[in-house]
Formats: sequence, structure tokens, C-alpha cells
Amino acid sequence: MESSYLAVKHLHVAAVAVSLGLFVVRGGWALWSPERLGRAWVRIVPHVVDTLLLASALWLAVQLGSLESWLLAKIAALLVYIGLGTLALKRSRTRRVRAVALAAALATFAYIVSAAVTKSPLGFLATL
Ligand code: HEM
Repeated sequence: MESSYLAVKHLHVAAVAVSLGLFVVRGGWALWSPERLGRAWVRIVPHVVDTLLLASALWLAVQLGSLESWLLAKIAALLVYIGLGTLALKRSRTRRVRAVALAAALATFAYIVSAAVTKSPLGFLATL
């Protein structure tokens, strides 16, 4: 495997880890202290990290040269994750809806990681 591919893959995985950490922290704040979500860095840093995540993902996908089924599944699940994440962090009024959306977003995130690791659109669902 080419070293630039490996380097970008490491960048992608690092962005995945930081993005998850920032999402969990913001999810906790959305439930217990929403006023913290308004801080300037909270509105900027996650966007920078998520842009890196997506840009590296697209670069890797282009290098692979074919949209395999696990990649399509990741893209579809990413859209679901974004929707649930938005519900968890801002769009829903009640804490209950935010909590359920947060749990569902984290399950979707786990599915995306498992689809990436197994290179299968089933991901961890194959073990159920
Ligand atoms: C929240 C969203 C995402 C997460 C959590 C995620 C997670 C991961 C992880 C953990 C790996 C490393 C897998 C391994 O080395 O075994 C990986 C690799 C990869 N991801 Fe993502 N990813 C996300 C979004 C995407 C998207 C949207 C695409 C496609 C456009 C994508 C394309 C790739 C590719 C091509 C690789 C490299 C596969 C390889 O060569 O081993 N990722 N991803």
C-alpha cells in the first residue's frame, strides 16, 4: 500500500477518534448544560475536525477507485449519523428526545466503524 494512502488513512482514523470525543462531550452538554454549547470553540473546532474526516474519507475512496458496498453503506450511515447528531445537539426540544437521538447516533457511529474494519456493509450486525 502506498505510504500517502496509509498516512491519509491514519489521518482519517485520528479525525474519527477526535470527532467521536467531541460529539460525546457535546452530547453530554446538550443533556446537562446546554449553555456550554454556545462557546466559540465548540462551534468551530468540531466543524474543522469533521471536514478533515470527510475530506480524508473522500480522498481514500477515490484512491480505492471503486465504490464498494461497504463504502456505500458508510456514506448512507454517515447521513443518518449527521441527522441523529443534529437532533441530539440542537433540533429537539425535550431532553428525552435528545438522549434517544444521542444513543442512536452513537450506535450508528459504532456501525460505521465496524463496516470500515470488516469491509462489509453488515458490519457488527453480522454478529447479531
Ligand atoms: C463517521 C464517519 C466515519 C467513520 C467513523 C469512519 C471510520 C473508519 C475507520 C475506523 C477506518 C479504519 C478501518 C481499518 O483500518 O480497519 C476507516 C477507513 C476508511 N474509511 Fe472511514 N469512516 C467514516 C466515514 C467514511 C466515509 C463517508 C467514507 C467514504 C466516502 C470512508 C471511507 C474510508 C476508506 C476508503 C477507508 C480505508 C479503508 C482501508 O484501506 O482499509 N469513511 N474509516
